[in-house]
Amino acid sequence: RPPTRSQLPVKKIELHLHLEGAAPPDFIRSLAGEKRLTLDGVFDDRGAYAYDDFAGFLRCYEGATRVLQGPRDYARLLAEVLDRCAEEGVIYVELFVSPEFCGGGDLSAWRDHLAAMTEVADAARRDGIDSRGIVTAIRHFDPDRARRSAICAAETAGGWITGFGMGGAEQVHKPTDFAWSFDCAAEAGLGLTCHAGEWGGPDSVRQALDLGCTRIGHGVRAIEDPALVRDLVERNITLEVCPGSNIALGVYPSWDAHPIARLADAGVRVTVSTDDPPFFHTTLRAEYDRLASTFDWGDTEFRQINLWAAEAAFCDAATRDRLK
Ligand code: ADE
Ligand code: ZN
Repeated sequence: RPPTRSQLPVKKIELHLHLEGAAPPDFIRSLAGEKRLTLDGVFDDRGAYAYDDFAGFLRCYEGATRVLQGPRDYARLLAEVLDRCAEEGVIYVELFVSPEFCGGGDLSAWRDHLAAMTEVADAARRDGIDSRGIVTAIRHFDPDRARRSAICAAETAGGWITGFGMGGAEQVHKPTDFAWSFDCAAEAGLGLTCHAGEWGGPDSVRQALDLGCTRIGHGVRAIEDPALVRDLVERNITLEVCPGSNIALGVYPSWDAHPIARLADAGVRVTVSTDDPPFFHTTLRAEYDRLASTFDWGDTEFRQINLWAAEAAFCDAATRDRLK
């Protein structure tokens, strides 16, 4: 059989993957079984994650995450997720992980979780898949809790943790409420990214840039403002675009309507990731396939987005060069 397009390129870089959001339903169900926990409203009657809209998605996500209780669970989850990434042809992945879920923002509990995850990441690196962790604040929780996450990030910067970011409900709280947290992470030498331009418009993207971010999670709604698009190009800002996520959650009604190709054509550094693949019934190969069939993307475009991803990766220069 001739190779399918999704086999190209061989090496993929994924910059935007939530560790908790990458947990397969079976993984969550079996942990719940071991702990004798019941998960109300998390699964539909076919066993898939159940939600109707973004608010429901966040509830479902947080419900599933309740079964992850301690360093050992996080280590098992990371091993499973890195295995799946390797199957998708990923050679380097950055994972969002939240101290809020790993011990409630307590620094000592976070250190224990991180030690367990680092062991798994080190073993996976020896098997050919490299990874880094991005500590993630959750916007709709609280700016005070974000501060605790930033302190966890800053105190553990330098090993597996190389970035700080923020996800969650984009329209809750003002970005300036999180300035202290982003400054704290930047001072510790961490790369900065923030979810913006997913549910919020161009202004939300501008505010994320004001926080010092060099990368934007999603950022796709920047397309609504040509001046902002020009700014993104001039400042070499990288967008972590997750088209399948946007379509599953209803940010755009269809693949045809998705602005990724228009952003790329305008010269914006776009990259492609899966966000929370089991929630959106997607894989990185499926995303590449859809981009190929919708926008006629091929080798040239896929090489370009992976080059942009390598250049924006929160890792040391030697690793970055190896990824190019
Ligand atoms: N957390 C996990 N997935 C997310 C998304 N798509 N937007 C905001 N926060 C998230
Ligand atoms: Zn995300």
